Amino acid sequence: MTGELDQAAMGELGARLAAQLRAGDVIGLSGDLGAGKTTLARAILAALGLAGEAPSPTFAIVQPYDVPDVRLPVAHVDLYRLDNPDDVRELGLEDYADGGALLIEWPERLPAGTWPELLLLRLEGTGTTRRLTAKVPAAWEGRWPPR
Ligand SMILES: Nc1ncnc2c1ncn2[C@@H]1O[C@H](COP(=O)(O)OP(=O)(O)O)[C@@H](O)[C@H]1O
Ligand SMILES: [Mg+2]
Repeated sequence: MTGELDQAAMGELGARLAAQLRAGDVIGLSGDLGAGKTTLARAILAALGLAGEAPSPTFAIVQPYDVPDVRLPVAHVDLYRLDNPDDVRELGLEDYADGGALLIEWPERLPAGTWPELLLLRLEGTGTTRRLTAKVPAAWEGRWPPR
């Protein structure tokens, strides 16, 4: 599930990732504006059971979801508007990773070394497909590529 993904393949990837997702997982979604980070996060949230389209957390920064709306507590985070790592610390993201999962857009804004076990997914390109590359930590060995 790496390579060029069209919109349908992106939805399928989201569903497969959701099926593998566990408490404590952190997925970083990297890429330029319009790369498809929110689209992939929405696909994961939908497959976790969320009804309706998740709002983009661009302004809320942290959008938490809880059982029973989703099968696993998950926080959808967009760090785009934060440029100071100290501001990121104030979000208390660790609390969400304790018993839940995190989906983080613009993970490069996290303080260095925050989550060594972060699954980093990078999306690139414009048009109808996106190129996906993954940086896979030990915690995802056997779960990536998700089937
Ligand atoms: N293969 C694809 N994967 C993801 N998004 C796509 C794809 N093809 C077209 N798009 C469109 O690109 C845009 C991506 O926007 P969005 O997910 O909000 O990006 P980001 O959160 O990275 O800024 C959406 O309008 C989406 O419909
Ligand atoms: Mg976005």
